[in-house]
Amino acid sequence: MMHQQVSVNRYTEQEIKFLITVLEVALERKFEDAEFALIGALLHDFSLGYEEIAQTRGYSKNYLRGQVGPRLWQDLSNVFQNSFRQPINKSSLERFVKHLAEQFNLSGDIDANQIRLQLKIEPSDAIAVQHPETLIQLYGRDAELAELSNLLSHYQCVSLVGAIGVGKTSLTSHWVQSFGQNQFDVVIWRSLIHAPTPELLVDDLISVFRQTSSKSFTSFAEKLNFLMTLLQQQRCLIVLDSAESIIQTTAISALNTYGDLRDYNQLIRYIAEQQHQSSLLLLSRQRFNQIVRLHHSKRSAQEIMLSGLALEAAQRILATHQLKDPSSWDAVIKMYQGNPGLLTQISRYIQTCFGGRVRHFLRCGTIVVPDEASKLYLEQIHQLSESDRIVLLDLATQNAPVQLSELYGVVKSRSTLIKSLTRLVELCLVERQEIESDREIEFVFDLAPVVKKIILAHSP
Ligand SMILES: Nc1ncnc2c1ncn2[C@@H]1O[C@H](COP(=O)(O)OP(=O)(O)OP(=O)(O)O)[C@@H](O)[C@H]1O
Ligand SMILES: [Mg+2]
Repeated sequence: MMHQQVSVNRYTEQEIKFLITVLEVALERKFEDAEFALIGALLHDFSLGYEEIAQTRGYSKNYLRGQVGPRLWQDLSNVFQNSFRQPINKSSLERFVKHLAEQFNLSGDIDANQIRLQLKIEPSDAIAVQHPETLIQLYGRDAELAELSNLLSHYQCVSLVGAIGVGKTSLTSHWVQSFGQNQFDVVIWRSLIHAPTPELLVDDLISVFRQTSSKSFTSFAEKLNFLMTLLQQQRCLIVLDSAESIIQTTAISALNTYGDLRDYNQLIRYIAEQQHQSSLLLLSRQRFNQIVRLHHSKRSAQEIMLSGLALEAAQRILATHQLKDPSSWDAVIKMYQGNPGLLTQISRYIQTCFGGRVRHFLRCGTIVVPDEASKLYLEQIHQLSESDRIVLLDLATQNAPVQLSELYGVVKSRSTLIKSLTRLVELCLVERQEIESDREIEFVFDLAPVVKKIILAHSP
């Protein structure tokens, strides 16, 4: 009861308006109506239950609790994983908002740019291992953990690339927890989800070492040099999560508010080439050309492609969700290519709609793309060029993997086709498989079932 009195009307209308803007700027989208109803009600009174909110705001309780809430909590947790460092949900919301409110003058003017600026740089308190979330159980991935250890001890720049939800953040976060302190003195974890300018990022990295006050810089190059000195002095691992955001922002010239990728390339190249004892680890849904180039020219950069979980590890995810019919599990795992994110989400559907009976789910004869994943894939697809989309659409209508030659004529030239296919493979949207025919190796291209379903569902 005490709790209820403390929570009610803690923030004024103006402060609530400010907080909602901060959250929308952070999420980089406007709240949908139902989200606005939920978050608005809770900011007025954190003790309200879903039932009460549903009644007063005209939504069903199940919709708010089962769909709107989980998606919103997940999005907020992802965005604030570095600064709040615990999952955001209805019960932690009051603490999270308090944490957020402490960073802003809530009665000031609402200035989205200022908010953006403040959110991009989340100063850390100390030089310490910072990992993004409380660790989940990690199944499998022993080989990948070992490979990460090996690469980080040999290369100054490593990128870990893989599809949405394949486990890049989880794997790295486990590695940092288990081995980070053996191999490095300092681990700095940053999410690039807001696509900060390279300069802001470098400022932020320097500020971790608390040396900014004694030094002023006249150029970006000078700051970079200073950062290099810091990286020479100690063994530091810089993890940049959601690094594909900087490729996306800079690839769309119309939205190119942050200069170009040149400065990021410069940063990556510096870290790869200069003499120091630190490493940069980029986690990305998309390959970084700069890393590939540096690797090919035998400089100190390397890339790891992360694919789905091995069968046994994937089975453990289904077991954790107490699914039934183990003899049918492999079909589901194949359908979702062992992607742990998709398997986790789909297990919830199977549990709720089929009482966990996998055979009943398979009997429906359809692949279900969880909403959350569908949204992320669509965002990725929307950023593609027209020719990339044409190739994707053509592949979606094929019943079997196709060879390159079967796609001739789909777009205006073969060179456009090759470029599009390369981009699609690098985005992990298209898979390249090797098959042996007439004692020769042939390459065939195909879409993941999930991607195929999304394309066909959204094609004209
Ligand atoms: N090896 C694993 N064992 C069990 N669960 C896992 C494993 N890897 C990932 N997961 C789960 O799968 C989900 C997606 O993982 P994660 O967020 O690490 O993917 P990601 O590749 O970083 O995705 P994104 O591209 O969206 O950043 C999470 O819920 C995580 O708990
Ligand atoms: Mg991630």
